[in-house]
Amino acid sequence: MEPSNKYLFKHKGSYFLQDTVTPEYIDSLEDFEIRDSDVFLVTFPKSGTVWTQNILSLIYHEGHRNGTEDTNVIDRVPWLEYNVRKRDYVNRPSPRLFATHLPYYLVPKELRQGKAKIIYVARNPKDALVSRYHFSKLYFKNEKVEDFETFMEMFLAGKVVGNLWLDHIEGWSAQRDNLNILFLLYEEMKKDLRISVLKICNFLGKKLTEEELNDVVEKASFDKMRLDHRANYINTSSGILNSNQFFRKGTVGEWKNMMTVAQSERFDSIFMERMEKLPFKFFWDIN
Ligand code: A3P
Repeated sequence: MEPSNKYLFKHKGSYFLQDTVTPEYIDSLEDFEIRDSDVFLVTFPKSGTVWTQNILSLIYHEGHRNGTEDTNVIDRVPWLEYNVRKRDYVNRPSPRLFATHLPYYLVPKELRQGKAKIIYVARNPKDALVSRYHFSKLYFKNEKVEDFETFMEMFLAGKVVGNLWLDHIEGWSAQRDNLNILFLLYEEMKKDLRISVLKICNFLGKKLTEEELNDVVEKASFDKMRLDHRANYINTSSGILNSNQFFRKGTVGEWKNMMTVAQSERFDSIFMERMEKLPFKFFWDIN
C-alpha cells in the first residue's frame, strides 16, 4: 500500500479512500463468488451512480416504488469495495445488486470471466470532473483542493478515486464482448429517462407494468430523488458529507460554467485522441 495523501492510498495501481477500505479487502474480492443473477453497476465517480442505484432499487423493490418500505438505496445496492455498513454480502439473497467504481482488472475474477450482468454508466468526463471538484468540498474525507486548476491536474493525472477516466472506460469497454454488459450514458438518461429505464429493464429481463414503469421514472427524477431520504444521502452520509449538496445540479454541460477555454483545450489535448478510439460513439461531443 502506497500512501498518496491524507485521504487516499494507492493499491495495485488504483486509488482508494483511506479508512474506508483496506488493501487486504480489495485483494479478497478477487475470489468473491459471483452468482449469475448478480447485477453490478459500474461507474467512474460522479457519473450518475446514485441515480442508477436508485433506479435499480425502484425496479427490483415494489416497496420502494409504492413507498411502503424505508430501506436506504445504499443498502439495496451497496458498494462492493466500500462495505462501510458491514453487510453480509456472501449470504445476501438473490438477486444481489452492487455498485462499484473498481477498474476492470480489480473486480472479482468470476465477474471478469463473464458471470452476472453489468451496467456501465458513463458521463462526459468534463462534467464528471466539475461534479467531483464540488463534491470534494462536501466530503469530509476528500482531498481538499480549493483551486480548480490544481484539481483538474490531479484528475488528468488520474490521482483521484476511480483513477484516470480514460483508463476506467477503456478497461471496461475493451471487455465488452466477453461480458454481459450494458453501456449507458448519463446524458441519454437525462434526455429520455423512460427509454433508459426500459433499456435497463430489457437488459435485466424485468417486466414492469406501465404503472410501475411510470413510478420508477417519476421517483428517479432529480427533483424527487432530492427529497427522497432513501436516496438523497442525508441519512446515509451523516458525518460524511458536510452539507446536503449531493444533489447539486444534475445537468449536462455544467463544465462550461467552470472551465476556461485554456483549461478545456488542455483537457482535450490529453483526452481527445483516446476518446475518439473508444469503441462506441458518444452521441455528445465532449465539447
Ligand atoms: P452534479 O454534481 O453535476 O450535480 P454519482 O452518484 O456518480 O456520485 O454522481 C453524482 C452526480 O449525479 C451529481 O451531478 C448529481 O447531481 C447527479 N445526479 C444524481 N441524481 C440525479 C438525477 N436523478 N438526475 C440527474 N442527475 C442526477
